[in-house]
Amino acid sequence: MLQERKEYLSEAWKDGLFILFCTGGAGSICSAQTRALVHLGASAAIIGRNKEKTERMAADIATARPGARVLAIAGVDVRDPKALQDAADKTARELGGIDFVIAGAAGNFLAPMSQLSANAFKSVIDIDVLGSYNTVKATLPYLVQSAKSSTVGATHPSIGGRIIFVSATIHYTGLPLQTHVSAAKAAVDSLSNAVAIEYGPLGITSNVIAPGPIGGTEGMERLAKSDPESVAKSAKRVPLGRLGSVKDIADATVYLFSDAGNFVNGSTVVVDGGSWRVNAGG
Ligand code: HXC
Repeated sequence: MLQERKEYLSEAWKDGLFILFCTGGAGSICSAQTRALVHLGASAAIIGRNKEKTERMAADIATARPGARVLAIAGVDVRDPKALQDAADKTARELGGIDFVIAGAAGNFLAPMSQLSANAFKSVIDIDVLGSYNTVKATLPYLVQSAKSSTVGATHPSIGGRIIFVSATIHYTGLPLQTHVSAAKAAVDSLSNAVAIEYGPLGITSNVIAPGPIGGTEGMERLAKSDPESVAKSAKRVPLGRLGSVKDIADATVYLFSDAGNFVNGSTVVVDGGSWRVNAGG
């Protein structure tokens, strides 16, 4: 049993020292991840394309804890390295650095390959893969600094300088209408693994969270539109007998960004109720 909260959430957590940079932070999954971290003491910047949506979500997340600082940085397309660099610099300037990064911005739609133009395929690859690369590239100097100056103490490994990529499970088996996303997410997983090896020696961890079928997300809503019964059918196919919740993903995020995740690097945390093992594409 947990004896004391601080064993899993270091002293630094209690003081709200950590600063999160999250792309796609206004989306259903990433906003829940951000909300959980802010609730536990972090400050955050959420990065999005749509100004109204990003600002509304930042204000909403800020209610998770009295006095929380949540910055909305809107008008940023993750495909644009300069825009991301400006966002990272602004976050560091206004919040004091960057300790945690969630590369969560993604593009997705259902389309058979026969109706997928080269540009449509490229758009998803660019948002997911290039966007994730741009996110890490822009924040890397701050993560290096965070890992170096961690105040957690000699008895604890550094807790600063951590990255989570939000991926998927569909590419483990393949899924119809998702050739573009399958290719993109496989590359995101590889990117994370390479970052883990290259920057582990500097104290930075890089891991993937792979959500399965999660209720209340944009992806699920699209599925429901294409077939209203599909959501209930998806839930029945999950070995644990239910859809995941955004809280399930937030909990995995807290794990990776807490002391519980100190020695986890280059891993994928699959949060799908066991789904992909029995259903193609989760
Ligand atoms: C075929 C399509 C299409 C569709 C767009 N395109 N939608 N092709 N079927 N349903 C084509 C367009 O015709 C165009 O190709 C090309 O894609 C780019 O479209 P644009 O609208 O110009 O691009 P852009 O504005 O950049 O939009 C990117 C996008 C869009 C990916 C197409 O859906 C988007 O912005 N999505 C971001 C939000 C999002 O998808 N979130 C969901 C994340 S959920 P042509 O040839 O005409 O130029 C998630 C869960 C994954 O990721 C889990 C997997 C199950």
